[in-house]
Amino acid sequence: MAQPMSITKSTQPCPSKGTDPMRFATSGIAVLLVPLALAAQSPLLLPALSDANAGESRPDGPSPPAPESIEVTQLPLPPTTVNEEEGGCSVEVNPRRTGCIGQLPNLLGGNFLPDHNHVVAAVEFKGAPAAPDPASIYTGLQLILVKADGTTFANGDPWKCITCGVPEDQQIGRGPTMEYPQAFTDGTRVLAGTDIIDCAPWQLSSPECTPERTYIFPIRWNVQPDGSGPGGNIRELRKHPDDVHLGYNSMSFSGATISQFAYFARLQFNPSPTTGIPLAPRYDLVNVTRLHNPNSSSLVMTDGDKIRMNYEAITIGELRGFSGRGNEVTYIGYPWESCNMDVFAVDLTTGKVRRLTSHPEYVDPVDISPDDQWVVVEDTRSTGRQMFLSAMRGIPPIIDMVVTGAVSSTRNNGQRRFFQPWMIDRYGDRGTYFGQQINAAGDGSPGSINDPEWNARADPKWSLDGTRIVYSQQITLPPACGGINPLPCPISTEPGGRVERLMVAHLSSRPPVAWQPVAPVSDIVPWGVPYEPGSSASRPIAVEERNYSMVGEISGSAEIKIRQNREKTYVVSVAVTYQNFSNDGDNVIAGMEEVSVRYPTPTTVHLDWDSNLTSTGISYSTKKSSPDGFHLEIDMMTNILEANGTLTTTVDGITYLQPANGT
Ligand SMILES: *[C@@H]1O[C@H](CO)[C@@H](O)[C@H](O)[C@H]1NC(C)=O
Ligand SMILES: *[C@@H]1O[C@H](CO)[C@@H](O)[C@H](O)[C@H]1NC(C)=O
Ligand SMILES: *[C@@H]1O[C@H](CO)[C@@H](O)[C@H](O)[C@H]1NC(C)=O
Ligand SMILES: *[C@@H]1O[C@H](CO)[C@@H](O)[C@H](O)[C@H]1NC(C)=O
Ligand SMILES: *[C@@H]1O[C@H](CO)[C@@H](O)[C@H](O)[C@H]1NC(C)=O
Ligand SMILES: *[C@@H]1O[C@H](CO)[C@@H](O)[C@H](O)[C@H]1NC(C)=O
Repeated sequence: MAQPMSITKSTQPCPSKGTDPMRFATSGIAVLLVPLALAAQSPLLLPALSDANAGESRPDGPSPPAPESIEVTQLPLPPTTVNEEEGGCSVEVNPRRTGCIGQLPNLLGGNFLPDHNHVVAAVEFKGAPAAPDPASIYTGLQLILVKADGTTFANGDPWKCITCGVPEDQQIGRGPTMEYPQAFTDGTRVLAGTDIIDCAPWQLSSPECTPERTYIFPIRWNVQPDGSGPGGNIRELRKHPDDVHLGYNSMSFSGATISQFAYFARLQFNPSPTTGIPLAPRYDLVNVTRLHNPNSSSLVMTDGDKIRMNYEAITIGELRGFSGRGNEVTYIGYPWESCNMDVFAVDLTTGKVRRLTSHPEYVDPVDISPDDQWVVVEDTRSTGRQMFLSAMRGIPPIIDMVVTGAVSSTRNNGQRRFFQPWMIDRYGDRGTYFGQQINAAGDGSPGSINDPEWNARADPKWSLDGTRIVYSQQITLPPACGGINPLPCPISTEPGGRVERLMVAHLSSRPPVAWQPVAPVSDIVPWGVPYEPGSSASRPIAVEERNYSMVGEISGSAEIKIRQNREKTYVVSVAVTYQNFSNDGDNVIAGMEEVSVRYPTPTTVHLDWDSNLTSTGISYSTKKSSPDGFHLEIDMMTNILEANGTLTTTVDGITYLQPANGT
């Protein structure tokens, strides 16, 4: 009999995760749901085709920067209690009686306060004694400040809980999460989850900022014409650097389809609302724009029986944030090369799109430096995780109409992410330059800075002076290791066996950049759609079922067969045959690829995939399925790969295999 998995209660990842996607989506997972939104997206029929510019996908930037010296240090966190029961956070564990966290604190690292000496983070406190013990306030999900300069607060702790003990009537309507904590540039407020934590006029780090002076205001998006009721669902909120605008995503479920749009809005404090829930001081989202250009939302465009790529299309699958000076919004978009997920930025005013990354691996969390010169991403690059799908370059993203959801989901094994933080200059990946891993130094031993078992979590964040990057990590946890999984579980070397940690990369050779406040940008996004409360939006249903052809920008052609389901609500299969096809002049593609999709549940994708592609040019590559085909099934809520058959890509003799099932 197989040994049952030994998972202690405290290290079991997300024991409460249910099937409710909204709930799951709030567990700090970066882009869990975007693939579905992208998968539901389908090409738009447009008679007028603007000139595609394949050159945009190969930015010819200046010669790449030399690697620089980076020192990574770890920030302190509250002490870990192994006993999470009431009172487990005893005087032995924390003599100052200022709270404890558990081994799995659900840490979400945020950004620096403007003084560069403090980092905001969300953690779950555990083991508090019962009331009326004064230490009873150190319980549950809370926002903390952590000293980043080696000093302590007046009580001797290197951290301070901001929200512990905030009176009930100062947090009416508070949301359930504290995802992606983001300090405002005034040092008095933090956006976390769907709330704004406000100590104004006191600096959060000052002794004057006490729980009695702290408020947790909910953010409400009115979705009713009469302003009544609760606000609409908002998720993945990102603050604009002007401190007055906000970007967010909203997902809607209708039947078997899930669709998501991104929005841009102004935050307006409403001290005494007269309508809508909660009837308590709150921030209202006003001047809301749906970040969707109905005239140019699809990369794959059809014109009769012709298909071509529109690299000017704004394909926001999920909003991720803003550029340093706030001119651009960043997002995970429909891929420009098949199976190669990237982050993009689009100018809020002009609608001009930039591809920020192009490495074949999966990228998701992203932060552009305050001076706009650098990007930090969390990426599977260097792990080989996704290369079996994406290592052949220059394949146009045609089958991606049906594979994007599944392809995005294979980047993780459940809770195990394969992300490491990388920084790339503003000109992006090019030639042999793929940025610099910021935590590469070390001997790879357990607990070291570059221990590959410690994977990064959303979001990495630049300090305002551009000299530091803060990020958080989690060690591989069951069931992604141990038990029936061939990977043994690594043992955390952190205090108390804590499985998460908060890290800072110091770019020690860089002089600090003087940060200038960002003037408020316009409320109006000319290419977007002004949002009217009560209105709904949908993406065009599906590309028409027929046979198409596509001409390569440089050479050759492709024949494309698209089939829809019987109800004509989505694409069920895509078959492509390439002949001497090149969009970039570097890679010449030949052969065929055919994929059909079905959805056993609304969140599960099943793909039947045949590939027999060859690429010549700057490399010799093949992408081949096994003779019985590659059959992949994955639930986009849990990201556990299950496949029969194989899909293998080789590039110049290097072979990339798919991960084994369940790993
Ligand atoms: C922005 O919203 C405010 C408050 O609802 C409104 O008074 C103002 O007219 C709006 N501005 C624009 C440009 O729509
Ligand atoms: C979309 O196209 C229509 C018709 O040409 C035009 O009236 C509208 O302004 C365009 N919308 C955007 C956001 O560009
Ligand atoms: C598409 O092409 C196939 C042959 O590859 C042919 O059998 C089929 O009839 C064509 N479909 C349409 C709608 O023209
Ligand atoms: C492939 O395209 C190149 C560039 O247009 C051309 O020189 C070559 O003859 C083509 N080869 C075939 C087999 O069509
Ligand atoms: C793959 O394509 C090559 C070249 O066109 C062909 O010779 C081979 O038979 C194909 N393999 C399969 C399994 O179809
Ligand atoms: C793999 O094959 C097994 C046995 O036929 C089947 O039960 C399972 O559903 C298949 N999985 C996929 C992803 O095709």
